[in-house]
Amino acid sequence: MSAPFGRRHAPLLIRRTYGPYVVLGAGDESARAQPGQFYMLASAERWGGGDGERPYLARAVSVMSVGDEGLMEFLLEEVGPGTKRLCELEVGEGLLIVGPLGHGFDEPDAGVEPLLVGGGIGIAPLVAVQEAWGGQALLGFRDAEHAKAAELFTDPLVSTDDGSRGHHGFVTELLEAELAKQSRPIYACGPPAMLHAVRAVARTHEVDCELAVEAPMACGFGACYGCVVATVDGYRRVCVDGPVFDGAVLA
Ligand SMILES: Cc1cc2nc3c(=O)[nH]c(=O)nc-3n(C[C@H](O)[C@H](O)[C@H](O)COP(=O)(O)OP(=O)(O)OC[C@H]3O[C@@H](n4cnc5c(N)ncnc54)[C@H](O)[C@@H]3O)c2cc1C
Ligand code: FES
Repeated sequence: MSAPFGRRHAPLLIRRTYGPYVVLGAGDESARAQPGQFYMLASAERWGGGDGERPYLARAVSVMSVGDEGLMEFLLEEVGPGTKRLCELEVGEGLLIVGPLGHGFDEPDAGVEPLLVGGGIGIAPLVAVQEAWGGQALLGFRDAEHAKAAELFTDPLVSTDDGSRGHHGFVTELLEAELAKQSRPIYACGPPAMLHAVRAVARTHEVDCELAVEAPMACGFGACYGCVVATVDGYRRVCVDGPVFDGAVLA
């Protein structure tokens, strides 16, 4: 799907929190995103560029949920100056948005309920997948406070690194257990080490996996080549060829 032209101003309509994560919602009636697509977000005010500040580039953020009448929701984790500024926005303040961008997840075959494997902030695009197509969510967090974001899903299975909620261990252990019961395709998003482990499990069980990967992005629409990843077919731009790739093509 191609992006509507240009950067748009969208007043913030929703702000709520799940532990350390912040959900921001804004209207974008001009576009309907597919699960796995993303937007480039910036705040309309105080986005760097003031005295002694460098101007920020917009930040890539996955579409977490597409509501009725173009209400787009995003899930943010504060990890640096851009996400800090976005997370402190209040309802009524302005977002600048470009999107939806990129190639999202493929719709599963009729009657197939995929396994949705998410780690940390990587759960965001999987909320949209479950809303659109269903699927069993398997979610890994560092602790119970972060695992509050599991409320965004229907009937998730949860693991935590410290054992404070759900299974004590890696989310890939939940994945192994589910695949032992039934062979199903995997949709995954999370930190690189988790995606690496998910690919290995998919290979062992001979199931398809689609992975939403991250890369540093300057433009978000194919112009700067700052976001390339290695694939078996050479380098590909995450922002236009991804962010969702077939696990088998990543090098
Ligand atoms: C397609 C896509 C979808 C995304 N979806 C989401 C989402 O839904 N929610 C969300 O919160 N984030 C999402 N991200 C991640 C987000 O865009 C980045 O983390 C962004 O850089 C945050 O900006 P920042 O200014 O807050 O932090 P930055 O200053 O950019 O730093 C981000 C993190 O990267 C580290 N870092 C920065 N530079 C380097 C470097 N040179 N080497 C190693 N580490 C470095 C920092 O220490 C920090 O932990 C997504 C990214 C992509 C590409
Ligand atoms: S972010 Fe510029 S080409 Fe991908």
